[in-house]
Amino acid sequence: MRQDAQPVSENAAGMPAARRLFFALWPEPELQERLYRLGGKVLGEARGRRIRAENLHLTLAFCGSVAEETRGCLERAASEIRAPHFGLTLTRVGGLRRRGLLWVAPPQVPAPLGVLVKALRAAQAACGLDPEDRDYQAHLTLARDVRRFPREDAIAPLDWAVERFVLVESCNEAGGVRYEILRSWELT
Ligand code: 2AM
Repeated sequence: MRQDAQPVSENAAGMPAARRLFFALWPEPELQERLYRLGGKVLGEARGRRIRAENLHLTLAFCGSVAEETRGCLERAASEIRAPHFGLTLTRVGGLRRRGLLWVAPPQVPAPLGVLVKALRAAQAACGLDPEDRDYQAHLTLARDVRRFPREDAIAPLDWAVERFVLVESCNEAGGVRYEILRSWELT
C-alpha cells in the first residue's frame, strides 16, 4: 500500500466492500432528543422498536449498496449541488401500517426540499444508479415494528432549520444499525 493510500475495507473475497449509502438531513442532537421523546409519547403503551436518538434522520435519497467508485461519483456530483437552506416544520405523526413504521412529517414538501431531492436523484442517475421515480414522501421514522398505531394526528410543530445535507453509511453491527456520516455539504 502506498504511504498516502487510504485503507479500504474488503470483503471475504478480497474485493473492496460495497457500502450501503443514503443522502439525508441530519438533525442536531437537541432536535434528535426532542424527536426521540415525541416518539415515546406518541407510541405510549403500543409496542415498537424506537430509533435511538442519535440515529434519527430524514432520508433524501436512498442509494443501496454501492461500490467505492460509485461512492466517489456520488460525492463529486453532490459537491456540485447548489441549493438554498430552508426551514422544515414537522407537524404530524402517523403510521405506515404496511411497513410497521411510525413517522413524523411536514405537512407538505417545501419547494427547496423538493429541489434538493431532485438534484440528488439526478446525481444518482449520473452515477449509474436507478433513482426512485415516485413522488418524494418526506418522513422521519421514529419507530419500527409498530403493531398498534396511534391515529394520524397533529403535533406541536417542531421547527428545523436545515443548513446541510449528508451522505451516510448504514453499518449493521451486533448492537443494531450504526449510521456513519461520511460527508456533509452546506446549503447556501
Ligand atoms: P425508512 O425509515 O422509511 O425505512 C436507512 O436505512 C434509511 O434509508 C432509512 O431512513 C430508510 O427509510 C431508508 N431506506 C432504506 N431502504 C430503502 C429503500 N429501499 N428505499 C428508500 N429508502 C430506504
